[in-house]
Amino acid sequence: MEKFVVNGGYRLVGEVTVSGAKNAAVAILPATILAQGVCVLENVPNISDVSVLTNILRQLGAAIRVIDKTTLEIDTTNVSSCEVPYEMTRRIRASYYLMGVLLGRFRKASVSLPGGCDLGVRPIDQHIKGFEALSASVNLEHGMVNVEASQLVGSQVYLDVVSVGATMNIMLAAVTAKGMTVIENAAKEPHIVDLANFLNSMGADVMGAGTDVIKIRGVNRLYGTTYSIIPDQIEAGTYMVAAAATGGNVLVKNVIPKHLEPITARLRKTGAFVEEYDDAVRVWRDLKRPQKTNVKTMPHPGFPTDMQPQMTVLLTVAEGTSIVTEGVMDSRFRYVDELRRMGANIQVDGKVAVVEGVKELNGAPVMATDLRAGAALLIAGLVAKGVTEIEGIAYVERGYQDIQRKLISLGADIKKVTLPAEPSLAQAL
Ligand code: EPZ
Repeated sequence: MEKFVVNGGYRLVGEVTVSGAKNAAVAILPATILAQGVCVLENVPNISDVSVLTNILRQLGAAIRVIDKTTLEIDTTNVSSCEVPYEMTRRIRASYYLMGVLLGRFRKASVSLPGGCDLGVRPIDQHIKGFEALSASVNLEHGMVNVEASQLVGSQVYLDVVSVGATMNIMLAAVTAKGMTVIENAAKEPHIVDLANFLNSMGADVMGAGTDVIKIRGVNRLYGTTYSIIPDQIEAGTYMVAAAATGGNVLVKNVIPKHLEPITARLRKTGAFVEEYDDAVRVWRDLKRPQKTNVKTMPHPGFPTDMQPQMTVLLTVAEGTSIVTEGVMDSRFRYVDELRRMGANIQVDGKVAVVEGVKELNGAPVMATDLRAGAALLIAGLVAKGVTEIEGIAYVERGYQDIQRKLISLGADIKKVTLPAEPSLAQAL
């Protein structure tokens, strides 16, 4: 087990390059199964969620060649199994995309219910609603979701909740269905558009991704392709907030500024400066304290829920009181207790946090409870006076490529320390 040891109080200054988008990659990797051929994926983030998924693909029969750190060649010609047991799915929520792709390719899938970050109740009823609308039968037994269809038939699906996962999973199953599928009240996140572009580059016919109505005309067959994954909106946002929180000046490179607009707008409200270029944004703040602002997370193009913990950290040292409302996930304030250890003044009531800004945070030992909470605690450690020790960093490495090296290149004082193994019961007695 390892922890990060952060010596805070340094402004982040310099340039950082953003990696490929995790939430696009974890859908596009399984989607290669639909190709029955060779795909080359570029700008693949080098993160543990990707390693977990490539292992799953290998166990299903895919041949994967690592061309370089961020390029994979994936041959799914010999994929034959459509069963994905719990030991494979428990570590990653996006394993649910294997339901859509195996149904799309084999008209059959048996996939264990997904694991992933604990953000409260995270049902998959909308995914199932979509598969059933395409004439598949779905049953849940012993924790396995069994989906089957003699043939998939295009149909109309209205999502009762704007769901990223359900939108993408229905798209994956519908691309080879008979006729037209229409997904209404669809999610519009950038990674949904990226998946649609990837599928279309394999010969699919997906229209309207990025809007709340997506139309998919089924095709008989999909082909191998070469595709480059978009930059990670949330990784970029994390460095933007870290720059503002430390009173630094950072050029965040290899981004699509349009994807960052909801984050840029909120940061400007706190008094930070954000300058947009073609494929970069510069974020800086003069030494005055950040200003309070209210934040409500919403599906894209609203303020992303995956930036809520990081933004809350910035508001803990703002002048005045801010209200943070979680409008997407069931329960996403578990990290608040850890920030209180560092001297933050936050009251949580259900999906609302009242953040009373304090002059400074103090370093303390804390524990990451999920991926974005871990990123937020890293920013808190950078801002805080003294030393912060962050455990549970495996969560952070699930979604951020080289975060320690990138932060050090911006002037952060951060070390990774291996924790002594817990003595076994026998040793303790
Ligand atoms: C995706 O999760 C992301 N994960 C999450 O990012 C992100 O927080 C979330 O979308 C929202 O943007 C991946 O892409 C792998 P949803 P997902 O379906 O698909 C409810 C990160 O840190 N819902 O859009 O699970 C659900 O409970 C992770 O990178 C249903 O009720 O999210 C939630 O309240 C964390 N029924 C809301 O909809 C369903 O069938 C949005 O969930 C599906 C969802």
